[in-house]
Amino acid sequence: MGYKNALRPDFSASILRKRRLTASPTIPASQAAAQLRRLRCLQGSQMLQILEKSLRKSLPESLKVYGTIFHMSQRNPFKLKALVDKWPDYNAVVVRPEEQNMTDNFGHYTNTYQIYSKDPWNCQEFLGISEVTNWKQHLQIRSSHSSLDEVIPNLASTKSIKVKRTQRILYMMPKTARTLVLSLLQAKNLPPEMRRPKPINEELFKHASLDITHPALVTRFWHFCGNESSQRLIERCIRTFPTACLLGPEGTPVSWMWMDQTGELRTGATVVPKHRAQGLISHLLYFHIQALDELGFPTSNHRDRANKFIQKMSESLQLVHLPCDWSQWNCVPVTLTLTPVRGKGPEDVTGGADR
Ligand SMILES: CC(C)(COP(=O)(O)OP(=O)(O)OC[C@H]1O[C@@H](n2cnc3c(N)ncnc32)[C@H](O)[C@@H]1OP(=O)(O)O)[C@@H](O)C(=O)NCCC(=O)NCCS
Repeated sequence: MGYKNALRPDFSASILRKRRLTASPTIPASQAAAQLRRLRCLQGSQMLQILEKSLRKSLPESLKVYGTIFHMSQRNPFKLKALVDKWPDYNAVVVRPEEQNMTDNFGHYTNTYQIYSKDPWNCQEFLGISEVTNWKQHLQIRSSHSSLDEVIPNLASTKSIKVKRTQRILYMMPKTARTLVLSLLQAKNLPPEMRRPKPINEELFKHASLDITHPALVTRFWHFCGNESSQRLIERCIRTFPTACLLGPEGTPVSWMWMDQTGELRTGATVVPKHRAQGLISHLLYFHIQALDELGFPTSNHRDRANKFIQKMSESLQLVHLPCDWSQWNCVPVTLTLTPVRGKGPEDVTGGADR
């Protein structure tokens, strides 16, 4: 596909005339219309690779979008789309699912947006356009840009949306950081490799992968709370990306790790307290992260500041603590109330740690 054909002018002048402009009330309609005309949906692996190369220069701040575009430019297994406010000299990129895959207004695990902006203070207008973000649904925005914490609540206040931010520490394995994040290499002494953890009892615990019988178990331990939307996401990730688990003596997973559509390694749990502190998660992380590196995946993971064990493990394995945070904003329109899922309360709606 040629350079020009790969740019789909999604929003032609005729469509523009038919549509009611729904940008933030603080933005004049003429400005919003101009913004909408410049909006582009980048398509095809060639175009996505150009974007990927450009985002690489802005790592680690662009990490969430970079990791997602990496997988989109390979085979786009989640059928996501990449929107830029203009091209090629873009300021902001939003990666989100196609509209037809966002039919659940309460599915905030499906209604996810990854955002990177070269100038976050100037992307509010772009994010406010309804063709970019469907503010009428429950949604999650993820970014490694802390300055969006001014922009998102600002925008939300103009649209009667309740926002909750979750902030975490972001880690990368030393080898990936050395390859991708040149600024880090210049700034500090990165360890050459991860440090090998203590051996585990391999007679008792066997290596395997998660399969489609496991999403219910995995979502139950995803920060002690899950719902149908998170279970669907986990099932999709298990079907799509490499996973790792250790099977206990009963043949069921006792510890596991899976990867999401942004290339991030997600919740590792060691289910039974008697199996904890035996090095199971350290062992899984050490081997799985290297297997993903062999595949060329730019892998990262985030850690809750309150989870001291996991932080201790990250330091022991010599993972590189990135200078920017992992942030997630859970947005809920105040007019859209949720029917409780599996008897859970409103905490499911606003989202909490690692949801
Ligand atoms: C947190 C959790 C995943 C750790 O799994 P694990 O298999 O016990 O982890 P490991 O044995 O590899 O230990 C990791 C580090 O924590 C320490 N640790 C683990 N449990 C500990 C305990 N009860 N007391 C003191 N230290 C402990 C280990 O000594 C190790 O530190 P080191 O690397 O310096 O040796 C597990 O406790 C768990 O599933 N908790 C509930 C769910 C959860 O919090 N998931 C994490 C989401 S990010």
